[in-house]
Amino acid sequence: MIDTPFTRLVGATVPIQLAAMPGVSTPELVVAVADAGGLGMFPATLLSPSVLEQTLDQIGEKTSGVFGVNFLMPFLDPDCVAVAARRSRFVEFFYGEPDAKLVAQVHANGAVACWQVGSLDEAIAAERAGCEVVVAQGTEAGGHVRGRTSLLPLLSEVLDGVGVPVVAAGGIATGRDLAAVLGCGAAGARIGTRFVASTESGAHPSYVRALISATAADTCLTEAFSVMWPDAPHRVLRSAITAATAHAEGVVGETRVGDQTMAVPRLSVICPSTETTGHIEAMALYAGESVSNVRSVRPAGEIVAELVSGAAAARS
Ligand SMILES: Cc1cc2nc3c(=O)[nH]c(=O)nc-3n(C[C@H](O)[C@H](O)[C@H](O)COP(=O)(O)O)c2cc1C
Repeated sequence: MIDTPFTRLVGATVPIQLAAMPGVSTPELVVAVADAGGLGMFPATLLSPSVLEQTLDQIGEKTSGVFGVNFLMPFLDPDCVAVAARRSRFVEFFYGEPDAKLVAQVHANGAVACWQVGSLDEAIAAERAGCEVVVAQGTEAGGHVRGRTSLLPLLSEVLDGVGVPVVAAGGIATGRDLAAVLGCGAAGARIGTRFVASTESGAHPSYVRALISATAADTCLTEAFSVMWPDAPHRVLRSAITAATAHAEGVVGETRVGDQTMAVPRLSVICPSTETTGHIEAMALYAGESVSNVRSVRPAGEIVAELVSGAAAARS
C-alpha cells in the first residue's frame, strides 16, 4: 500500500492508474488492475451509451476495487458522460480544451473529474474547469501525445502551477520509475504500454511480440496514423509506419468495436486487438519509450505488485 492524495481521493490502495486504451484495456484488464489496488480505466471511445452501460455494470459486478472511464474529446458522445459518472468513481477526458460544463456533469452524477494534459496552461485550465486531478503527460508516452515537453520538466511546471493532485504519465514501466515520479511530487503514475503486455490485455499477440522485442529507440513521435483523427501526434513503433507506408491497399484489415465490425483503413488510428484480422504489422502499434522495460507478458496484478514493491525498494 502506498498512500497519496490521489489514492485517498479515488479510494485506491496503490498510486497506479491503468491508461484506458481502446481495444487493449478490456473489462478483464480493468478488473485485474482494480483488484490489485490500482485505478482500472475503461475507454468509452466509439461505444454507444447502452454498450458502455452494460460493460460498466459487468465490471462493477466483478470487482470491489475502483475503476473509471476515459473519453477522447474528438470522439466524445455527450450521452455517455452521465452513464460513466453514475457507474464509476472517476471520469476523465483527453485531447480537447478543459470544459467546465462536462466537469459539472461528472460531478452532478457523483464521480471525480480529471483531464490528461500536455502543458502547464492546459493543467491550469483543467483545474479552473473544476477537475480534482490532472494527469501530466510527457512526450515519452505511448499512444496520442498532447504536448511538446518531456515528463520531468512538465511535471515540475504543473506541480508548481496547480493545487490538485497530479498523476504522471509517459515512460513509466518499473518500480524505480514509479518511485522517481512519486519522489518528484506526483501523486500517482498512469501506465499504458507496460499493461499492453499483460495477460488480460486485448492487444493482438503480434503487437505484444513487437513491443517485447523493441526498445525506446524503436519508437517514434509521428502524425503518420492520422486517418479518423488528423493533426494529433502519437508515439508508435517505427516499424509500423514503414509497413503501413509500404502497403498498397486502402484497407489493412478488419476489427470489432463494441458490437460492430469495421474495416481498418490504412494509416488509421485503430490499434490491433485480438479481434483484429489482417496486416497487424501495418497498423498503429502504439508504444511509449517505456517499451524498453516491457520484456514479458505477465498478469496485470503481478505487474502492479512488482511496481509497488520495486518502488518501495527504490525509495528505501
Ligand atoms: C495503446 C495505447 C492507447 C492509448 N489510448 C488512449 C486513450 O484512448 N485515451 C487516453 O487518454 N490516453 C490514451 N493513451 C495514452 C495514455 O493515457 C498514457 O498517456 C500513456 O500510455 C503513458 O505512457 P506509457 O505508454 O509510456 O505508459 C494510450 C496509450 C497507449 C499505449
